[in-house]
Amino acid sequence: MSDSVKLSYNDQTFEFPLIEGTENEKGIDIKSLRSSTGLITYDPGFKNTGSCKSGVTFLNGEDGILRYRGYSIEDLCEKSSFIEVAFLLIFGELPTKEELKLFNNEIENDSLVDEDLKMILKSFPKSAHPMGVLSSLTSALIAFNPSSVDIDSEADMREAIIMLMAKFPILASWTHRKVKGLPLNYANTSLSYVENIAHMMFKRPHQDYNPSQVVVNAINKLLILHADHEQNCSTSTVRIVGSSQAGLFASVSAGISALWGPLHGGANQAVIEMLVAIQKDGGDTKKYMEKAKDKNDPFRLMGFGHRVYKNFDPRARIIKKAADEVLSEMGINDPILEIAKALEKEALSDSYFIDRKLYPNVDFYSGIIYRALGIPTEMFTVMFALGRLPGWIAQWLEMRKNNEPIGRPRQIYTGNTHRSL
Ligand code: CMC
Repeated sequence: MSDSVKLSYNDQTFEFPLIEGTENEKGIDIKSLRSSTGLITYDPGFKNTGSCKSGVTFLNGEDGILRYRGYSIEDLCEKSSFIEVAFLLIFGELPTKEELKLFNNEIENDSLVDEDLKMILKSFPKSAHPMGVLSSLTSALIAFNPSSVDIDSEADMREAIIMLMAKFPILASWTHRKVKGLPLNYANTSLSYVENIAHMMFKRPHQDYNPSQVVVNAINKLLILHADHEQNCSTSTVRIVGSSQAGLFASVSAGISALWGPLHGGANQAVIEMLVAIQKDGGDTKKYMEKAKDKNDPFRLMGFGHRVYKNFDPRARIIKKAADEVLSEMGINDPILEIAKALEKEALSDSYFIDRKLYPNVDFYSGIIYRALGIPTEMFTVMFALGRLPGWIAQWLEMRKNNEPIGRPRQIYTGNTHRSL
C-alpha cells in the first residue's frame, strides 16, 4: 500500500506523505501544500480536516465506538466514577488509590471562589441564560487568579487544572441558584465530586438533601458520557483559543460559549422544548412523526440522528437504561415523558427512520433525565459543560504539550478586487 498521495496540477506532480493513527485512520499530510503548489484546501466546517494528532479520545461513528484513552465508555460507565474518568482524560491513566485520594484532596482544598464573584453574579438579571453567566464567571476567574501558567512547569499546570475542576461546579451551581433565588452555597467535603454537584445545585437552606443512589449514578453516567468527544466545536474552540497561548480559564470560557449553541450542546434543551410544543398542540405524536418525514416541512425530530454516528450513538444506549431507572425510582408521571416514549417507540419501528439510520441520540435521553431530576431546561447545557470540562482540559493540555502552532486558517477571498476612491 502506498505511503503517499500524488497531486497533479499545472503539468506537475506533487507528493504528500500519508500519516496513520493507531486505529488505522489515514490522513494526507498537506503541511507543505501551499509552499510547494501555491494552493490551499477549501473545507467549510472542517468536515475533512484533521486539525491535530490526538491521543485522548477515539471515536468510530460507523461502528458506534467511543473510547477515552483506550477504555470503552461502556466499561467506564459501569466501573468508574466521573472523577476517575476526569483524571484518566487529563493525565492519561486511571488513578491509583493514592493518586485519586490526592486529586480529591486537592480539589476539596480549592473548592472556594472569591466572595467578590458573587457581586458579578448579582449584577446579571435573573432572566440571563445560565450558559452566558457561566462563561462570564469562568472568564472572571482569571481576574481573581491572575498568575500565569508556565507550560513547562508541571506544578503550575496541575494547579490551574485543580483550580478549574474545583471552582467550576460552584460557578455552575450558582447560575442555577441565582435563577431559583436560593442562597449561594459551597461543597460539602463529606460528599463525592458528583454528589456535591447535586448537593450544591439542589440543597435548600431549610432542608437536608440526600439524593438517592440511582440519581447520583445517573448524573455520574451523564457526566462520563459527555466528558469528551474528540475535536467537536467547543473542544476545537478551546484548542484554538489556547493555541494563541491564552490561559486555560480563558480557553474554557470560550468553549462554554461554543457549547451553548443549539447545534451543539444546546440540543438537549431543544428536545424538551419540542416535547412541550407537541404536548401544547394536543400530544398527537403521529402528527409530528408525519411532519418529520414530510420533505416539505422543515420540522425534524430533535434528539434523533447524528452527524458522526450513523449506526447508533453508544452514549444513548447507556443513558436510556439510566433514564428508565431514574423514572421508575422517582415514580415520575410526566405527560412530556409519555410523549417522548411514544415518539421513541414509533420512530424505532418506522421505515423512514430505520432506512436513514436515525436513532435516538444522547441528547434525547439526557434531557429526559434532567427534567425528571427537576433541573430547569435552560440548565441542561450547563450540565453538559460540567461533564465536558475534563475533556476540554485534557485537549488544551495536549495542545500545549505538543507545542501546536497558533490556529490560523486561510480563506478564498470572494470580495471586491481593488477599487479606487
Ligand atoms: N428527523 C427527521 N429526519 C431526519 C432527522 C430527524 N431528526 N435527521 C436526519 N433526517 C433525515 C434527513 O432529512 C435526510 O433525509 P433524506 O436522505 O431523505 O434527505 C437524512 O435523514 C440524512 O440527514 P442529514 O441531514 O444528511 O444528516 P446529518 O448527518 O447532516 O445530520 C443531525 C445529523 C444530527 C444534524 C440530524 O440528524 C438532526 O438534525 N437531528 C436532530 C437534532 C439533534 O438531535 N441534534 C443532536 C445531535 S447529538 C449532539 C452531539 O453529539 O454533539
